[in-house]
Amino acid sequence: MRITGSYVTSTTLGEAVQAFVPHALPPRAPVLAATSYAALNHAAELALARLAGVSGLVPSVDWLLYSAVRKEALLTSQIEGTQATLTDLFDEEAGFVIANIDDVEEVTNYLRAFRLVQDNLRAADGLPISVRLLCEAHRLLLNGVRGSGKQPGELRSSQNWIGGTRPGNAAFVPPPAEKISALLADMERFIHATAAEDLPPLVKIALVHAQFETIHPFLDGNGRIGRLLIAALMEHWVLLPEPLMYLSGYLKQHQSEYYRRLSAIRTDGDWEGWLAFFLEGVAVAALEAERNIVAVASLIAADRRRLLAAEKGGLASYRLFELLPMMPRFSIEQVRQKLNTTFPTANAAVKVLENLGIVVEFTGQKKNRSFSYQPYIELLTR
Ligand SMILES: Nc1ncnc2c1ncn2[C@@H]1O[C@H](COP(=O)(O)OP(=O)(O)OP(=O)(O)O)[C@@H](O)[C@H]1O
Ligand SMILES: [Mg+2]
Repeated sequence: MRITGSYVTSTTLGEAVQAFVPHALPPRAPVLAATSYAALNHAAELALARLAGVSGLVPSVDWLLYSAVRKEALLTSQIEGTQATLTDLFDEEAGFVIANIDDVEEVTNYLRAFRLVQDNLRAADGLPISVRLLCEAHRLLLNGVRGSGKQPGELRSSQNWIGGTRPGNAAFVPPPAEKISALLADMERFIHATAAEDLPPLVKIALVHAQFETIHPFLDGNGRIGRLLIAALMEHWVLLPEPLMYLSGYLKQHQSEYYRRLSAIRTDGDWEGWLAFFLEGVAVAALEAERNIVAVASLIAADRRRLLAAEKGGLASYRLFELLPMMPRFSIEQVRQKLNTTFPTANAAVKVLENLGIVVEFTGQKKNRSFSYQPYIELLTR
């Protein structure tokens, strides 16, 4: 059996525990055999290439990205237990009053952290993928009510544990705090090494995510930053021209296997099992995203055809319709602002779409009427 790390005694809460310190990547003794991942890696790369291609079917990639990035933000936060929904997120952006504001804040924080990472990677003078960039992202992720006591932006300075009520009965005790910097530096070197043992990029991403979770460098938010790191590396190695995949959907659906596979790297030396699980997940998630794009594009095309064929259509309703994919919940006032028009014109444009059954009013009230492009939201939520 492969040994993937060593145990050191660490003291916390007055208790001596065995903390796990992972060996630097890549796996050795034995090294990974290409036969263990080649077929799955090929299938995953193929699915990603198809997903990149299918985005060419739509006139603008903006609204695909708009929904894909929000789905990832939502799903990664749902693994953490947030109760927010996609509708909550759209409502927050529409300025509507929402009940579970703290849950939604976690999701919008993730969106900010993701944007920060993407902006840095795309700017000529931006930070590369690095511990510093991950700490900056962490600062944004844990900004606000729930995260503020969890050292946002800082590597932890105390021993933590996963599962169990105290370190002594934990499922897993990550490395002692004083080892974190060196372990993350090793991880960073592996990411930027030019040879990197000739491993395919998706395999490297799988290794890095697991290594990051094993190091567990923050007091909280390790799952979300580790999954953000997956998206960042997809961008870094240009596996997709745009972040259209939401892998967290797969990880959430297979959450117990996800955690079990991470543990097995430590307990059984089983890197191959984790790799297979991860690569399979990329293929599944990319195929799912591809299907969703086709379904959403068909819905929008069909609705647009109905609108263009309708007698009552007109400039404002046409322009409003094109805004819907990135503004699926809205008030008349918002339409007025977006179209830079008068209230009666905005109202009439909405009426056209409502009469065609494209949007529905959902408050049932006379005042502050609010509308939803419901079939679209349902397709995204499916
Ligand atoms: N046995 C394990 N070994 C290593 N890592 C694990 C194990 N079980 C879970 N993890 C990782 O730890 C994450 C949880 O850590 P933490 O609470 O710091 O992150 P989070 O972002 O707040 O939560 P979440 O991941 O639940 O969204 C999991 O998402 C998973 O990625
Ligand atoms: Mg947590």
